[in-house]
Amino acid sequence: MILSQHRVENYRNIQQAEFCPGPGLTVICGRNGQGKTNLLESVWLLSGAKSFRGSKDQQLVRREQPYAVISSSAQRDDGRTEEYRIVIGGSGSEAAGVHPGRFGQLDGVDFGRATNLAGHFYAVVFAPSHLSLVKGSPDGRRRFVDAALMQLYPGYIPVYRRYIRALAQKNALLRDAGRFEGAEQLLDSFDLALAEAGGEMIRRRREYLEGLFAIAEETYAGLSSGSEACSFSYRPCAENAEELLAKIRAARPSELRAGCCTVGPHREDIQIRIGGEDARAFGSQGQQRSAALCLKLAEARQIAKITGSEPVMLLDDVLSELDGARRDFLLGKIEGRQVLLTSCDAASFHNTAGGIWEMEAGHLRQVQ
Ligand SMILES: Nc1ncnc2c1ncn2[C@@H]1O[C@H](COP(=O)(O)OP(=O)(O)OP(=O)(O)O)[C@@H](O)[C@H]1O
Ligand SMILES: [Mg+2]
Repeated sequence: MILSQHRVENYRNIQQAEFCPGPGLTVICGRNGQGKTNLLESVWLLSGAKSFRGSKDQQLVRREQPYAVISSSAQRDDGRTEEYRIVIGGSGSEAAGVHPGRFGQLDGVDFGRATNLAGHFYAVVFAPSHLSLVKGSPDGRRRFVDAALMQLYPGYIPVYRRYIRALAQKNALLRDAGRFEGAEQLLDSFDLALAEAGGEMIRRRREYLEGLFAIAEETYAGLSSGSEACSFSYRPCAENAEELLAKIRAARPSELRAGCCTVGPHREDIQIRIGGEDARAFGSQGQQRSAALCLKLAEARQIAKITGSEPVMLLDDVLSELDGARRDFLLGKIEGRQVLLTSCDAASFHNTAGGIWEMEAGHLRQVQ
């Protein structure tokens, strides 16, 4: 998959920008706060996912403007070109005849909500906030797995939604279960729904993570020149839907006491160890960043393996905190793929064959 042309209008601080990245490395450089991450984020949205910065759609639209437009061409590995268009309506967009929210078109066909674009444009993004994959709470690691699965298997989205909906309803019921008759029966039906969707989530997570971890561990060994071992593991809360149902049923008294669902995929986690120790508590900043990066590089390999399509790599400020050997390994590892990389330091890229663009106050210009 290659992004061949990308154009944005009224996107965050960018009034208008357009560029045609090459098939290899493209560097977007510039001082802090100029719009480098904004540009990368606009490319990421082509995947159908929401902002990797957790921003609401409205925040993506340039201040004082009703809507933003992203229009791009991407070349698939079979040579076909696809035309993407995303329109994001901000507050007050209706007066301009645009729905509030994020909507997508592919080759001129309306796809409705931009999330329906999932499974077409493949990308992997690594931003400083992804350090939380290693450092942060289990919640971020679950989001990482779920987002990857949604991109790879659009069928995962309805399963996930069913689970989350049943979870929210059951949690609400658990909070005041003592207060009305028939609550137990209702809880039973939520248990069934949770076990059905949850069992499917576990099956997908396990299958995906087994492959992912093997690649990530091998990549970490290369990144650290074999001097450190990093291991990843996932222990599901149950083997399958039946076992999950039994565990949820057994937990009923404690769930009633706690007032929330205590068993299920929404409580799972991934364990990351560096040199045998918990990376979250003991890893150095560079080690944690390396582990998070390896998960992302492995994600790219998994996408290529499963879909047959190389994803576009979006690396936001990834080189800071990595020593020279790790930088060289990383830049070697991403060869053969299209990579868009942001950096405050253009000087370190003057010898690369790739294009270099400078972002200044939302204006983009090519410098190499
Ligand atoms: N909706 C918006 N409208 C106008 N400007 C916005 C909007 N959202 C964000 N910005 C501006 O975009 C700028 C930040 O851009 P961005 O995060 O892309 O910077 P950057 O070049 O990646 O900087 P750094 O090197 O510090 O990461 C901020 O100055 C912010 O005020
Ligand atoms: Mg940035």
